[in-house]
Amino acid sequence: MLAYPDVAKRNILSMQDFSNDDVQEVIKRAEDFKHGAKIELAEPVYVANLFFENSTRTHSSFEMAEHKLGLTLIDFDPQHSSVTKGETLHDTLLTLNSVGVNIAVIRHSQEEYYTPLVKAPDLDIAIVNAGDGAGEHPSQSMLDLMTIHEHFGHFAGLKVLICGDISHSRVARSNAEILQRLGATLEFAGPEQWYDSAFDRYGKHTTIDAAVADADVVMVLRVQHERHDPSESFTASQYRAKYGLTDARAIQMKREAIIMHPGPINRGVELDSDLVANPQCMFAQQMRNGVFVRMALLERVMKVRKLGGLHE
Ligand code: CP
Repeated sequence: MLAYPDVAKRNILSMQDFSNDDVQEVIKRAEDFKHGAKIELAEPVYVANLFFENSTRTHSSFEMAEHKLGLTLIDFDPQHSSVTKGETLHDTLLTLNSVGVNIAVIRHSQEEYYTPLVKAPDLDIAIVNAGDGAGEHPSQSMLDLMTIHEHFGHFAGLKVLICGDISHSRVARSNAEILQRLGATLEFAGPEQWYDSAFDRYGKHTTIDAAVADADVVMVLRVQHERHDPSESFTASQYRAKYGLTDARAIQMKREAIIMHPGPINRGVELDSDLVANPQCMFAQQMRNGVFVRMALLERVMKVRKLGGLHE
């Protein structure tokens, strides 16, 4: 038996743990925070950010969200921790939990690294998944949903084209399932060898040239060089010419359609550089919304666990 039966609610692990109503609730709360809502903690809540893979956006926006919520941050740098001496992730968490950390925000290269941890009877620490290999990226998905919702006011009937390195993308994996469940129609484009037939259930694989003019959302993914065998890669110009969102392709988009990118961007590869500043491109908006979505997700976990005097 699990130490805590309601694992999905007590942690943030996968978008599949969120009902459609949960998603709307998180977006609503993130909008409240964006408009200045504040919370008061009755007692301290301690959080550590454990990033075993590099990050700019997710790490800095979780940290900003934690400051804005009044959480107390406990420094953790894998390179200067006992992980370098072979300590397991479980034992790292046991240590942080023992010294009083309540929430661990974790990015790790291993898919579903969290499964044994949330079942461990000796751990009572909330896990917030900040990306598990090519698995999922729930907080990125939530900020993407918030950004789409801000622009269109709904999801049903929207045509979303997800372009690029699909098979290695935790962003595509988190977004495809929830966007379909919320009523959007999906298509995928990009190299065949970076497509995964597991996505067939969400929409068809096509080409960017065939789909770009009809899409409401063109979600461009980063080419994840670090997850590729060099023999299966492209030169930047080959990739851009065949699969990238170039200026010429962007001109074909509907005027009200939007461009999204989770970042970091390989400028001039999957996305032409000047498109980042195009008013149709939501890149900066996505990053801004990331702070408020992460505030809402952290508050949700604190309420379920009754941390800081909060409750549901
Ligand atoms: N989108 C995203 O996860 O970016 P970082 O890798 O910089 O956190």
